[in-house]
Amino acid sequence: MATPRPLTQPLRQYRSIFAQYAPPSTSNASAARARRFISSTSSSSSSPPPPPSPHAQQQQQQQQQPKQKKPLTPAQQSLLSSALRVNQAGELAATLIYTAQTPPVVAREPHLRPLMKHMHDQEASHLHTFNTLLARHRVRPTALYPLWSVLATGLGWTTGLLGREAAMACTEAVETEIGGHYNGQIRALLEMVGEWEREGYEVGAEFRDLIATLRRIRDEELEHLDHAVEHDAQKAEPHWLLTGVIRTGCRGAIWVSERV
Ligand SMILES: [Fe+2]
Ligand SMILES: [Fe+2]
Repeated sequence: MATPRPLTQPLRQYRSIFAQYAPPSTSNASAARARRFISSTSSSSSSPPPPPSPHAQQQQQQQQQPKQKKPLTPAQQSLLSSALRVNQAGELAATLIYTAQTPPVVAREPHLRPLMKHMHDQEASHLHTFNTLLARHRVRPTALYPLWSVLATGLGWTTGLLGREAAMACTEAVETEIGGHYNGQIRALLEMVGEWEREGYEVGAEFRDLIATLRRIRDEELEHLDHAVEHDAQKAEPHWLLTGVIRTGCRGAIWVSERV
């Protein structure tokens, strides 16, 4: 029979620790408890984690502080004021066009009454939205409000008397310009939001609401454009001249209303 080898010094130390924390009849559970004790004492003696770097501290402080809103520059204030002003003028004109078109169009084609009412009511709702925004932000309306009112009513009556195709061609032309106009505004506002976010500034809920409102109205204008095309706008004679004149007029009115 082989004689047991004498224990080395480190093993003797472990034996004495086991003997202290485990009963003489050493079970697996007791040994596990003892091992946990050894590992806990060894880990508690390790050095504390290093302090965070100055850069990490700065990041942590920035995350803890509430974000600030960046004040609008004069150029941004001017952009927003002219955007609200021109939108209100455009929605007024659209409301008046449908108001003037509806009686002659519906007199000849009564089945178009629900569609004309639907488009008019949406325009009236858009106008109400921009009236509210102008009052809230103290933006003055365009000085040419009376002139646009007369021209829009005249355009509505004329195209309505020319018939369904001409009335729909008018809608097609107006909504093509207005849809592109809203898209340009949404793009400009999203660029401002992106710049603020990159610089770590807060983008207020009101600003995000304005972008959402413009997107909703833009979609409704493009829906009107679809309705017009579905109802034979492109059969108007001469379509190219009618839409060309109206689109040029819209672009001129937008340009002037942004400034005056
Ligand atoms: Fe509208
Ligand atoms: Fe519209």
